[in-house]
Amino acid sequence: MKDKVNKASAPKASNDGVYHLQLRPGDVPGYVILPGAPERTVKIAKDWEDVEEVAFYREYKTVRGKYKGMEIACTSTGIGGPSSEICLHELNTIGVHTCIRVGTTGCIVPDFDLGDLIIPVACVRKDGTSATYVEPEYPAYADIYVVMALIEACERLGFRYGLGLDYTVGSFYIGQGRPLNEDKSGFWPSFADHIIPDLATAKVTNIEMETSAQFVVGKLHGMRMGAVLSVISNRVLDRWGDNGGEEKACLAASEAMRVLKEWDESGKITLNARMKKS
Ligand code: URA
Repeated sequence: MKDKVNKASAPKASNDGVYHLQLRPGDVPGYVILPGAPERTVKIAKDWEDVEEVAFYREYKTVRGKYKGMEIACTSTGIGGPSSEICLHELNTIGVHTCIRVGTTGCIVPDFDLGDLIIPVACVRKDGTSATYVEPEYPAYADIYVVMALIEACERLGFRYGLGLDYTVGSFYIGQGRPLNEDKSGFWPSFADHIIPDLATAKVTNIEMETSAQFVVGKLHGMRMGAVLSVISNRVLDRWGDNGGEEKACLAASEAMRVLKEWDESGKITLNARMKKS
């Protein structure tokens, strides 16, 4: 039997859903949390009821359920800009209007330590992917209401958090100033020694791999974007550890979605006309 042929410009999954996420309109509500790792979908959904896995293909796992009565979902994005772009493009195609990234990050200023939460307000765009969409001077910034909802959520939950100026880069090792070997033998360009100190002096708070790509692609598609990142590495003290941060970030994102939905329904925030309410 021949494979069904569909458009190269808009390929479809065998269930007629979007190609990578394998989701169709109506499979998820408009409010979707974006962890990087598929296994984090389970950690997010542990605070929900009526949880169901909707689809799982490659790095994209989607789970939906109810958080305190609100219909909610999460889809893992994988690591980095390209897989995030695919995820946001396809979520937008099926009518998703609000996304909160839940990820981990390395802090590069002394204000934060392991397990703290950072809510990025804006990012330096070194992700690579967003430059394929729009010129580099275009800002990567979070939706103000999503930031406010994340602040409200962290206050309600009593979590330690701060606002951040994030650096998103398409590299975990050399591009984040991590040498191949401790003695810096092997490939180690001189600029790599200066990455962290130069960012710190520019008051950048943290470094990770997805947020600016998601903010720019989501914004250009008309979506509301935000992020809550748990500090898993301290680049000032050279320490790595979760310290309870991941669990807190997961819960803060669900709570922030509930806050946003309350605000949306109260008419406090007017959703862009082309966004579908659900
Ligand atoms: N994610 C990153 O990209 N870098 C870190 O240091 C921690 C998490």
